Amino acid sequence: MLTLGQWMESHGQRIETALGVLLPAANELPRGLHEAMRYASLEGGKRIRPMLVYAAGQTFAAPAAALDAAACAVECIHAYSLVHDDLPCMDDDALRRGKPTVHVVYGEAQAMLVGDALQALAFESLAGAQAGQASAQQVVNMVRILARAAGSRGMAGGQALDIAATGEALDAASVETMHRLKTGALLVASVQLGAACSPASDPWATALERFAQAIGLAFQVVDDILDVASDSATLGKTAGKDAQHNKPTYVSVLGLEAAKGMADRLLDEAHGALAEMRGAGLDVHRLAELADLICQRRN
Ligand code: IPE
Ligand code: IPE
Ligand code: MG
Ligand code: MG
Ligand code: MG
Repeated sequence: MLTLGQWMESHGQRIETALGVLLPAANELPRGLHEAMRYASLEGGKRIRPMLVYAAGQTFAAPAAALDAAACAVECIHAYSLVHDDLPCMDDDALRRGKPTVHVVYGEAQAMLVGDALQALAFESLAGAQAGQASAQQVVNMVRILARAAGSRGMAGGQALDIAATGEALDAASVETMHRLKTGALLVASVQLGAACSPASDPWATALERFAQAIGLAFQVVDDILDVASDSATLGKTAGKDAQHNKPTYVSVLGLEAAKGMADRLLDEAHGALAEMRGAGLDVHRLAELADLICQRRN
């Protein structure tokens, strides 16, 4: 049995290889765009969303190649969301994953196009899941899950709420809605995409949704905490930006200690949802470990 560290190492290599194959080569025309897409997506990030795809899929013995397609798809959407999030018209950040942001290196126009192209590539990847032994019906289901999570009822909608809220005082319920959309939606989709690769997951849709909603919100609560409690070298992105930009966050609305309490409660909720599945004999230990990692991470 692999430790979580060993499992993440091997699946980190796996997603790196799969993304490297999916992304157009840097010397394919238009070279600047393809180079920038690879810069935005390869050799960086914690790969939490792909890990959730693999862990959820393996719980239900889903075919590996279909999981690769889904893991690449959600990571492409995530990488695109980071490129756009860092643009001067949004959070105006110069550091991401320990490197200068895409618009700093390649210019704003190219950064917009990197996001556009990565979004399209995500769905191309899902369409390829059929070759990886997913049925046509499963692929359509995965397209629906990811499209919904990425769009105006998911990540893009949450980013719209974030921009509108900048400089405003929000109540805790509004911050929750914003966080569930801008960040939670893609984490929920990651769990659902992994599960969608196996029909054996169907009876567990409700428990999986409960688990995924809890870790999805927790992920952004912890991101808000790290923004005030960590430093740029550890994070690989600029610390202290939320206060600097006057963004309402769990920390600004509840205070640091209450935000930490919220993350702890969400982690309990996630484990509670998994307990039902464990009770029925499913091996959910990897999902449990990833939930712990999301809440206890340092970057
Ligand atoms: C950062 O996500 C953006 C948020 C949604 C909070 P991650 O913390 O997963 O970023 P990477 O992929 O590890 O760089
Ligand atoms: C980002 O939230 C959510 C996205 C959809 C990218 P943040 O703006 O807090 O993410 P970071 O802190 O820049 O990674
Ligand atoms: Mg932002
Ligand atoms: Mg940001
Ligand atoms: Mg943040």
